[in-house]
Amino acid sequence: MPMSKPVLLSGMKPTGTAHIGNYFGALKQWVDLQEAGAHDCFFMIADYHALNFIQDAGQMHALTTELARTLLAIGLDPERVTIFKQSTVAAHTELTWIFDTITTMPYLMRAHAFKDAEAKDKEINVGTFNYPMLMAADILLYDAKAVPVGQDQKQHIEYARDTAEKFNRVFNAETFILPEPYIMPEVAIVPGTDGQKMSKSYGNTIPLFATHEELTKAVMGIVTDSSGERPGNVYAIHRLVRSEDELDTLYEENKGQYKALKEALIEDLEAFIAPMRKRYEALEDSNEIDKVLTRGAEVARARTDKKMYEVRSAIGVS
Ligand code: ADP
Ligand code: TRP
Repeated sequence: MPMSKPVLLSGMKPTGTAHIGNYFGALKQWVDLQEAGAHDCFFMIADYHALNFIQDAGQMHALTTELARTLLAIGLDPERVTIFKQSTVAAHTELTWIFDTITTMPYLMRAHAFKDAEAKDKEINVGTFNYPMLMAADILLYDAKAVPVGQDQKQHIEYARDTAEKFNRVFNAETFILPEPYIMPEVAIVPGTDGQKMSKSYGNTIPLFATHEELTKAVMGIVTDSSGERPGNVYAIHRLVRSEDELDTLYEENKGQYKALKEALIEDLEAFIAPMRKRYEALEDSNEIDKVLTRGAEVARARTDKKMYEVRSAIGVS
């Protein structure tokens, strides 16, 4: 019998239109991991995590579909990896409840995301407070060994590890394995058109499937710092789509000519985006998305049914 591959699981919240920061910071690595073929990969649309922010049915539906379409357009292949929606696998919320009963409030109060929300003096909902437990369930249900995330999510993996250990200890069982963070190769933070981190919350993004017109508008709007000879913000984005050697020549030849450099960037971004945009457009109104998510949910549920059987036996409710 062939040895089964270690499980790798990652997720993204459907909270906005994907931009090139999301691509170079996370999604591209998912495709690379699929291509490497070393893991049994699960990629999840974390819609129940997003419910903390998106509380409108139409918007939730549109954003979830958009993320599924994005995952297919960038080259994830549902024949080789499992793509599914968190809300279609009820075990995630069920296991979250079980974890809640062995987790203390002070422990969750130490989470960075909670502390940030508290510092901003926001009214914090229980879902935000509990976020790390839902994420622990996402990971532990699949016996995921590798969990690719950015630096900002590292603490959540520690919560998942602690929770696995605690469950095993409290119930004197060997139900869960400890996941490892797979911190994605140091990807520089992609700057937005204003030089801050590119983020949908700052309105400074270059959408991943931008039309030529949107691309032109975004690039022409990049704030150029005129202190040096190289427009830093333009260069930082350009580096993502063209080699540094080629850029050295280009930027040397066009010293101080910001418009020409921006035009070159538009052309290079267009060449990079066009094939993905084509696939993205082809998926409009396609029933392929539903099929992929239905199939993904079946594969995911087959796993979690087995795992929940073990969990229920361990806690004595089977
Ligand atoms: P946003 O900041 O637009 O709200 P999210 O927080 O939803 O984006 O991020 C989704 C994923 O994309 C995360 O893994 C995050 O680390 C990555 N990401 C987001 N913005 C950037 C950026 N500007 N540079 C690199 N990676 C990013
Ligand atoms: N919390 C992650 C983020 O905000 C998304 C996420 C949800 C996730 N569940 C996950 C990532 C499980 C990895 C594994 O980016």
